[in-house]
Amino acid sequence: MQAKPREVYVPPVLQDLRAGTAELHIALEKRLPFFSDALDVPAFKRLIQAYYGFYLPLESALRDSDAIPADFDLSPRLKAQTLHSDLKALGDCGAAIDSLPMCQRLPLIDSSATSLGVLYVLEGATLGGQILRREIASRLGLEAQNGAAFLDVYGAATGRRWREFIEYLGSRPMPTAEREAVVLAAQNTFSCFERWLDSREVLA
Ligand code: HEM
Repeated sequence: MQAKPREVYVPPVLQDLRAGTAELHIALEKRLPFFSDALDVPAFKRLIQAYYGFYLPLESALRDSDAIPADFDLSPRLKAQTLHSDLKALGDCGAAIDSLPMCQRLPLIDSSATSLGVLYVLEGATLGGQILRREIASRLGLEAQNGAAFLDVYGAATGRRWREFIEYLGSRPMPTAEREAVVLAAQNTFSCFERWLDSREVLA
């Protein structure tokens, strides 16, 4: 485990998010095959295909929702394009990628609170990516240029971008009801993702 990125202040909403999603994170982490001896390049590709089938529709839903706060810059945090490039590097043609199954049961995004709950999960996943990146490089020889760019999507900026995200979260005035909506959306995001990955048969 790497050192925690430096955090100056843990806002109440982040405390609630951590308390509300820790178990879901552990459960999903246990079932993901990144550290499995059975993981080979074809299995890794199936996993990235399944990730793409979740991230693409979810990021589209975020973009189309009108729920993202006006002062939040979503575009530089979108990651489906990186997954698309990874799939190309792993040998899928554009037509094959376009015909991949897409998740239909996504977390509801109907407010700025729910959009931030979803974003917490998608942004937080970049932290674990730093561990997974090293594992996949040594286990499969895959790195940013040959199919595993998603695991290092923010590169050296990972810690800084996480801190910026949580600083943004903490800077928003958030009454209790809104904090609860953020946490519920984050929980739904974990649950929807796990259910989707399960249905794609890529989990242990
Ligand atoms: C085997 C896979 C995974 C491993 C080993 C892993 C590992 C980690 C680690 C070590 C951290 C803490 C990083 C730090 O504080 O420096 C973290 C944070 C986080 N991960 Fe994962 N992770 C995995 C998969 C995922 C997935 C699939 C998601 C969601 C789609 C996710 C969401 C999060 C979130 C939201 C946080 C932020 C928690 C917080 O500090 O508030 N992780 N992960």
